[in-house]
Amino acid sequence: MNASREPIGVIGTGYVGLVTATGFAELGSDVICVDIDADKIARLKQGEIPIYEPGLADLVAKNRERMTFTTDLSEALERARLLFVAVGTPPTYSGDADLSAVQAVVDAMPASDRHALVMKSTVPVGTGANIKRVFTEQGKDGFRYVSCPEFLKEGTAVADFLKPDRVVIGDDGDWAGDAVADLYRPLLTAEHGGQGSGELVRMDIASAEMVKLASNAFLATKISFINEIANVCEETGADVLEVAKGMGLDDRIGPKFLKPGIGFGGSCFPKDVSALKQLAGNSGYHFQLLNAVIEVNELQKRRVISKLQKHLGSLVGKKIALLGLAFKPDTDDMREASSLVLSARLQADGALITAYDPIAEEEARRLIKGVDFASSALECVQGADAVVLVTEWSEFGDLDWAQVAAAMAGTLVVDGRNALDAAAVAGAGLKYEGVGRGTLA
Ligand code: UGA
Repeated sequence: MNASREPIGVIGTGYVGLVTATGFAELGSDVICVDIDADKIARLKQGEIPIYEPGLADLVAKNRERMTFTTDLSEALERARLLFVAVGTPPTYSGDADLSAVQAVVDAMPASDRHALVMKSTVPVGTGANIKRVFTEQGKDGFRYVSCPEFLKEGTAVADFLKPDRVVIGDDGDWAGDAVADLYRPLLTAEHGGQGSGELVRMDIASAEMVKLASNAFLATKISFINEIANVCEETGADVLEVAKGMGLDDRIGPKFLKPGIGFGGSCFPKDVSALKQLAGNSGYHFQLLNAVIEVNELQKRRVISKLQKHLGSLVGKKIALLGLAFKPDTDDMREASSLVLSARLQADGALITAYDPIAEEEARRLIKGVDFASSALECVQGADAVVLVTEWSEFGDLDWAQVAAAMAGTLVVDGRNALDAAAVAGAGLKYEGVGRGTLA
């Protein structure tokens, strides 16, 4: 690809930072990846990828020559004008975003009129304005600032980077915004001078910050909405899969994110919904809808327990097999995974849990105590009174249900993601209970 592309710095080698860095390297830029975690940098230098993300290891290996890993920020400052910031902004106890890692990056910047910070981390609206104010106070007012929110999805992040549906740039109309647009150019549509799929939308910094929070909050709202529709379907005899299909064909609604389940998790939706609610509250506006989105999501995780109790009665001493623990398939990420709440509740109700996840076991062992971990789905269901599908890894769709039925002590299968072939489960003599679909036996 174009070898004359400018070098960039990426601060933070977590999931967003590493995917962004690798993506720009693939487009032809030299990328200097900086992290304060010396151990992580040492592992990356040896070609070890600290997260599970399909396709990422291969792409890093392919572009290894263009990627430098260092703990020394000055290397990035020397070679690059644009410093992409992808550090963590976890929620605080109150739900506000913790901006201490962002603040540390701002404080570490020198006075310069050659550089710009490009914010990839999800931050509250107003953060850009605050950082520019701090730069001025610190005598660094030549430092430019660009908001460039990230819309990658874990599990498909590499493809999402290379085939974006939009690139949002919030800037002050100076060289820095132009330079970020140029970097993304190959991924943009012909209308924006590229050969790719992405629409370019340029706006002011605060609006770009809001696009990110509002997008995640909207998607989370869509999920809580279909989860409530599913709950009503269970009471009224409708099948939510048919309902979602019928709704999704209206192109104002669309078919995506209409899959009911046991609640959304991950490092983004729960955090960003709370952050937007807090942000609104801090500015004096009570965002009513988001309270309901959060509450429905919490209740949805607990509905599985009621389904188990409906069929098994008391859960004391009952053996429950949990299939899948990660917050969604194709990731080892356990942050805010529904399995955390579910396993804690089941244990509190006296159930005995065996769990299996193809990839997330190591992380799950750190977070979930008092659970037996199995090394395969079939081992997990051995002697179980009930099986609960928590995360829809594709391998669970290939299970031989006659074998599962023979291994189980009981007959109940709760499909928390509507991911299984209900007829095949029922055909093996098991009782199938999905989300919003009634019981099939
Ligand atoms: C989400 C957004 O989709 C990305 O656009 C955004 O960049 C990212 O957050 C972020 O802010 O970094 P991600 O958290 O990777 O991406 O995962 P999603 O695929 O959006 O799923 C989130 C949760 O919603 C999962 O627990 C998933 O199981 C659940 N979900 C999703 C449903 O329950 N139903 C659906 O129909 C879709």
